[in-house]
Amino acid sequence: MIKSILIIDFGSQYTHLIGRKIRELGLFCEIKPPKYIKNIDTLKQHQCIVLSGGPDSVLSKKSPSLSIDISKITIPILGICYGFQYISHELGGKILKTNDREYGNTLIEALKSNLLFKNTPKSQKVWMSHGDSLNKLPKGFKIIAKTKNNIVAAITNNKNIYALQFHPEVTHSDFGKEILSNFLFKICKFKKNWSSINLNANVKKYLNLNINEKQPNIICAVSGGVDSTVLAFALSKHLNTKNLHFVFVNNGLLRKYDESNIRQIFKSFKLKLNVINAENLFVKKLKNTKDPEKKRKIIGSLFIDVFNNYLKSLKKKSFYLAQGTLYTDIIESTSYHGGKSATIKSHHNVGGLPKDINFNIIEPFKELFKDEVRKLGSFYKLNKDFISRHPFPGPGLGIRCIGNITKERLDTLRDVDEIFIQYLRDKHLYNLSWQAFAVLLPVRSVGVMGDERTYEETVVLRCINSVDGMTANVTNFPIEVLSEVATLIINKVSKVNKVLYDITSKPPSTIEWE
Ligand code: XMP
Repeated sequence: MIKSILIIDFGSQYTHLIGRKIRELGLFCEIKPPKYIKNIDTLKQHQCIVLSGGPDSVLSKKSPSLSIDISKITIPILGICYGFQYISHELGGKILKTNDREYGNTLIEALKSNLLFKNTPKSQKVWMSHGDSLNKLPKGFKIIAKTKNNIVAAITNNKNIYALQFHPEVTHSDFGKEILSNFLFKICKFKKNWSSINLNANVKKYLNLNINEKQPNIICAVSGGVDSTVLAFALSKHLNTKNLHFVFVNNGLLRKYDESNIRQIFKSFKLKLNVINAENLFVKKLKNTKDPEKKRKIIGSLFIDVFNNYLKSLKKKSFYLAQGTLYTDIIESTSYHGGKSATIKSHHNVGGLPKDINFNIIEPFKELFKDEVRKLGSFYKLNKDFISRHPFPGPGLGIRCIGNITKERLDTLRDVDEIFIQYLRDKHLYNLSWQAFAVLLPVRSVGVMGDERTYEETVVLRCINSVDGMTANVTNFPIEVLSEVATLIINKVSKVNKVLYDITSKPPSTIEWE
């Protein structure tokens, strides 16, 4: 039996990134809440433990903890951020509250002779996000990395306990992957046991475990994006297509090209697609709703209403509703593994479901990240251009049309988006960005066109680079490119007279505006 890597989720936004990075290294891992460890015997199925970061301070009485004494654990342990402080605190070190919260990129000096830092430079950039710091080492530990300001960045003892104050799992830590790899392969002596073929096998396993009927009726909501389309393809591969119903709802919050694109793809799959036009219904219900969370809830529950009506028209008794929900949709909405991560946005696939729902939800991708779904799409040999399509949020232009949603404002945004995206494609710039889109602001400003005074709307162009949407940097398009596309937009869309470029990264911002 393969002994797996156990990741204990202390509630960090990045916990699942640890899992994903480990899977990328070709190893199987499981993420569990702290209460999963009942006693020392629980650990018999695991070859090592990673203790994640988390929003709490170990100095707070309510901070999460394990029910066993970590000094009794005999398998290797890697603590990250909160995990680092937890190990130090539990083993007799002293953690102090500091006035300066350290947040963002920091240079550390690492002890190269230590196995953990093997094949990484002495001075390297890491991602820090912490308030408390280690003031006195726990007994038997030594420092193996420090920041330039003398803050302890990594420690170890001779019992294979390693602890890092920084986050090796985020891409901003330049050698984070090497550090995790050193811990797993050099210190824990793992051999590779996970590959992208497992992604397909895991979807199959999920479907077998979660669908109990022989002839299940399955309705799959297709948004036109990569996730739900790959899901539709996965379902058609693993299940009897006779009882599969693929539904695409035009909710009036789509871009100009979304409906025609998805019709084309389904035609090429030779799968039947049912298109429901609910444009008026959505736009009418969203009128005068400015609050982004309310918008999401309205959009989510309208989707369900539309589905219910569609289901009734099919005259079947029970249904499974398949959704292409990703892990990122869940982690930022609710605490997934029982940890404590704070609510940031409620994504439509998770929030807004009515209580009297009469179908079972299946979400075969709920443990996957976007790039893993893309890998699965490639494994199924789906069109490359389609797989590399930028993500488009479920609530669509509903959360990009800031302020009042009207058909007229949505049409303006659609025009801008089409010009912008077509421009990026024509200039071969589209694939240089992970996600590019336009946002319509509730701000008007004065301009001049010819000799005429104008008082029109403002759009923001946003282009970011990311690996998984959890963190993001701004795409550095040259100012000439941006001014050229801004001129095109202003010349062609009469309702817009100002174009801005968003230059904030995530964090502290998010990718979308709402
Ligand atoms: P944020 O704005 O949270 O975006 O930094 C991260 C990624 O998630 C997408 N996103 C959503 N996707 N429903 C979705 O299906 C939503 O409500 C939603 N909000 C954000 C966003 O486009 C980006 O790729």
